Amino acid sequence: MSNDPLLQPYQLKHLTLRNRIIVTAHEPAYPEDGLPKERYRAYTVERAKGGVAMTMTAGSAAVSKDSPPVFNNLLAYKDEIVPWIREMTEAVHEEGAAIMIQLTHLGRRTRWDKGEWLPVVAPSHHREASHRAFPKKIEDWDIERIIKDFADAAERMKAGGMDGVELEAYGHLIDQFASPLTNELDGPYGGSLDNRMRFCFDVLKAIRARVGDDFILGVRYTADECLPGGTSKEEGLEISKRLKQSGLIDYLNVIRGHIDTDAGLTDVIPIQGMANSPHLDFAGEIRAATNFPTFHAAKIPDVATARHAIASGKVDMVGMTRAHMTDPHIVRKIIEKREEDIRPCVGANYCLDRIYQGGAAYCIHNAATGRELTMPHSIAKADRRKKVVIIGAGPAGLEAARVAGERGHEVVVFEAANDPGGQIRLTAQSERRREMISIIDWRMSQCEKLGVTFHFNSWAEADTVQAENPDVVIIATGGLPHTEVLSKGNELVVSAWDIISGDVKPGTNVLIFDDAGDHAGLQAAEFIAKAGGKVEIMTPDRSFAPEVMAMNLVPYMRSLQKLDVTFTVTYRLEAVEKSGNELVAHVGSDYGGIAKQRTFDQIVINHGTIPLDDLYFELKPASSNLGEVLHDQLIAGRPQTAWRNADGKFQLFRIGDAVAARNTHAAIYDALRLVKDI
Ligand SMILES: Cc1cc2nc3c(=O)[nH]c(=O)nc-3n(C[C@H](O)[C@H](O)[C@H](O)COP(=O)(O)O)c2cc1C
Ligand code: SF4
Repeated sequence: MSNDPLLQPYQLKHLTLRNRIIVTAHEPAYPEDGLPKERYRAYTVERAKGGVAMTMTAGSAAVSKDSPPVFNNLLAYKDEIVPWIREMTEAVHEEGAAIMIQLTHLGRRTRWDKGEWLPVVAPSHHREASHRAFPKKIEDWDIERIIKDFADAAERMKAGGMDGVELEAYGHLIDQFASPLTNELDGPYGGSLDNRMRFCFDVLKAIRARVGDDFILGVRYTADECLPGGTSKEEGLEISKRLKQSGLIDYLNVIRGHIDTDAGLTDVIPIQGMANSPHLDFAGEIRAATNFPTFHAAKIPDVATARHAIASGKVDMVGMTRAHMTDPHIVRKIIEKREEDIRPCVGANYCLDRIYQGGAAYCIHNAATGRELTMPHSIAKADRRKKVVIIGAGPAGLEAARVAGERGHEVVVFEAANDPGGQIRLTAQSERRREMISIIDWRMSQCEKLGVTFHFNSWAEADTVQAENPDVVIIATGGLPHTEVLSKGNELVVSAWDIISGDVKPGTNVLIFDDAGDHAGLQAAEFIAKAGGKVEIMTPDRSFAPEVMAMNLVPYMRSLQKLDVTFTVTYRLEAVEKSGNELVAHVGSDYGGIAKQRTFDQIVINHGTIPLDDLYFELKPASSNLGEVLHDQLIAGRPQTAWRNADGKFQLFRIGDAVAARNTHAAIYDALRLVKDI
């Protein structure tokens, strides 16, 4: 038996958890019709296979119709959910993991124009900044109805074979009752702490009465809202003690902070560049004060920190949630003493930002997550060993090299630069985005183990490639900044990359015209403003940096708003002219009728990349498929069989930005889905 603190079993009432690592509640937005169908099940089961002790499935499954999901959550109020839940719980139990589900009523944290268009309810009329609905003040019959809805939903989950349910209190209706900031009720549910906690206890009592004692019940709640006038740490401690003393629950799941704004949410769930495990000590204080089973998750991305969380006795169960989206097999790798093989979560938060933007959660550098029905987490060996030559060692090229290596092929990579990484190396120039380099480092170490040959500082020509006698050639050469977007003066501007790489010195009065809306524009702005320049970011869009998304924007805003940076939306840079030492920007608008002139000493354009595709087109005539990708085969996960040239000696493919400007996830997905069948 291992003496690793993480691998010790934990007895939670009648439930034996096989180790100390859990996946906390998170809604990846994979439900179909509000039900956990095949895709949902496959995602959940993969984590159980990987060895986690318990997976808290769903996040915020809705118990009532006036709690309509804002990002495709499970609908726990539907009776037809039970058989789907049962299939999932049985499959997870077969893998030896426990499974619970998180239930909620969102209160004001939703919108009235979702679901059945019912009024949003909350214990006050104050709206939540993030979701914008002005709530109806909740009435006595709403309260009775919702308490019953919670009990009904819990009963459904028990019938579906769940080991327990967790109530999502923080930021949702239960904590909206508890917090003085959001509870303006008179009578039994408003005013004193006793009254503000009454709703929570009524819900817990109603659930317990339905599910009995042999069912785990927990609450995920904020024990310190970190907001003036909100639930304070002192009150949070008192709430924690009362939850324990109620005898109704089996564990506490501790949150610190508030989630009513993007900034608040990002402090609760920190992203890259923010401190690791920022609330672990706080969770430890709650555990020490209550001496009650305590769970906690918040940016504990690596095994060493998780081990410390358990060994130091700060928590009983440690959540590694995004870490399991990046690598579902963490526990298995710990047991096999292969921790260095764990694919690291880099805190990019592409997963969470996507669900808030209405999409499904995908991991920036594991394209199999959420696609378990079609994409493998473990790559199968090929029947025949081939020679695969890859040009470019950015994220797409390295993923192709890794997957080809796992397939057992002989793999050779040519890279023009001294180092691998491509655009990610540039991204990681920003202190706050340094963690991104692990996307490259992990792939390099995997490739090394797989015997991939690298030629750096090597500009591959068509001859070089053909001299390798390849069976397959993959062009992953990426792109170069595309700045030729003006009717006049394209030669007078620089690119965001010129600034980030340090190739061009920042100006003092700078316009950044950013219609790509991705990280590069904001990174360049930060470089210039930190060097003392005045910066205006201009976009023709209705909002700036839409590709950066909500939580990723928070650290930028915290930095840029303190510096000399302004944000201008709905204007388009049309042309640039030189006038003495100055640059004159001709500014118009897609709405028409605007022609302004402004002067700057530097103008930066961020407009994506243009593919570096010369080598591809040089090689194309010599290839057997003439570069063709059969989409039906690609989508169905079958080998590519396009045959357009009888004289062709090798298959030729192009992936990532060498095809068209996209993002890191798209580049890695291109590589995985093509190469897994080569
Ligand atoms: C895609 C996604 C959805 C989430 N949804 C929920 C949710 O519905 N309820 C909840 O309590 N936490 C939710 N979380 C937060 C996680 O449970 C966890 O607290 C957070 O990711 C921090 O832990 P980590 O750093 O280990 O990922 C979500 C997280 C992710 C990544
Ligand atoms: S997208 Fe980023 S934060 Fe989310 S799981 Fe992947 S690496 Fe982690």
